[in-house]
Amino acid sequence: MPKVFYGYDLAVSSNVSFKQLKVELELLEVEAEKEIAAANDSIALEKIRINLLGKKGRLSAILGAMGKLSVSERPLVGQRANVLKTKVQSSIAERLDSLKTKAISELIAREVLDVTVPPVGVPLGKRHPLMKTTEEIVDLFCGLGYSVAEGPEVENDHYNFSALNIPENHPARDMQDTFYLHDDFLLRTHTSPVQIRHLEQNSPPVRIVAPGRVYRRDTVDSTHSPVFHQVEVLAIDEGLDFSHLRGTVMAFLKAFFGDLPVRFRASYFPFTEPSAEVDVQWQGRWLEVMGCGMVDPAVLEGLKLDPDRWSGFAAGLGVERFCMVRHEIDDIRRLYTSDLRFLDQF
Ligand code: DAH
Repeated sequence: MPKVFYGYDLAVSSNVSFKQLKVELELLEVEAEKEIAAANDSIALEKIRINLLGKKGRLSAILGAMGKLSVSERPLVGQRANVLKTKVQSSIAERLDSLKTKAISELIAREVLDVTVPPVGVPLGKRHPLMKTTEEIVDLFCGLGYSVAEGPEVENDHYNFSALNIPENHPARDMQDTFYLHDDFLLRTHTSPVQIRHLEQNSPPVRIVAPGRVYRRDTVDSTHSPVFHQVEVLAIDEGLDFSHLRGTVMAFLKAFFGDLPVRFRASYFPFTEPSAEVDVQWQGRWLEVMGCGMVDPAVLEGLKLDPDRWSGFAAGLGVERFCMVRHEIDDIRRLYTSDLRFLDQF
């Protein structure tokens, strides 16, 4: 076996034979295939390419040494060298290709979706029972042809009291212990001011429900909270009388509670005449759920509506009461403590 030269050795050696170069080329081919097969990424392949085929690589050294051969031998080595070069280039390209394919199939294997894995489940929030009750009340009245109106929670004396026929120093103001703000402002003590605001903007006939939060300086106990919810009802039209009020209230209560016993009790509100409170019988006792009455002519006059032509009825429903009776909740405070173990039941 002739002595094998590598790169630089070949270039400096003065004594190179055709046979030696042939062996050198064969060796280079074998080694190139081995190295290429062992390369695991494009960087390693590029290093191999430079080392074998680059300007200072092993093939260049062989070609450089060709000058020392006879004129007839040179083309033979040159031809073999070219074939080898093409072969090495395509081996590198093939290897690069198969590395890419492998990488892609590994990626696909890693990212495979197991559609049989049971879902984790996203916990969904729920409507608060008070909001559900409000919606149910509003929906029932909408079914009777009412639409929804709203008013501000920060009110002034005029809308909360005076326009509702509750003049200054009238004892009725004592009925509602008020959170007064600065100047003339206060937190509304009931939703009745929405009656006035709505009638200022809309001419009768009107039929509205106005749900909302109201505020009173009550001490907290099982049935009282300084913040609670009401739904105001107002109907103004020609020829409305107490039978319409009673029929509407009875139809609503039957739809909401089913067949609970109901009674109307004579009462007094400055903005209605006559006035009544409505009780439902629950757990053996009568429970008040709303105040109501025929809109007082003085309220209509204040709005420049002729009481000889227009009449109407109004009611104020306590949402907490409706909610507590419906769900048999014994303490109003449960509705405000945000205890999810409690709220999750609804
Ligand atoms: N606004 C009254 C209150 O909060 C409830 C009420 C009574 C409203 C009679 C009405 C009504 O519309 O006609 O105590």
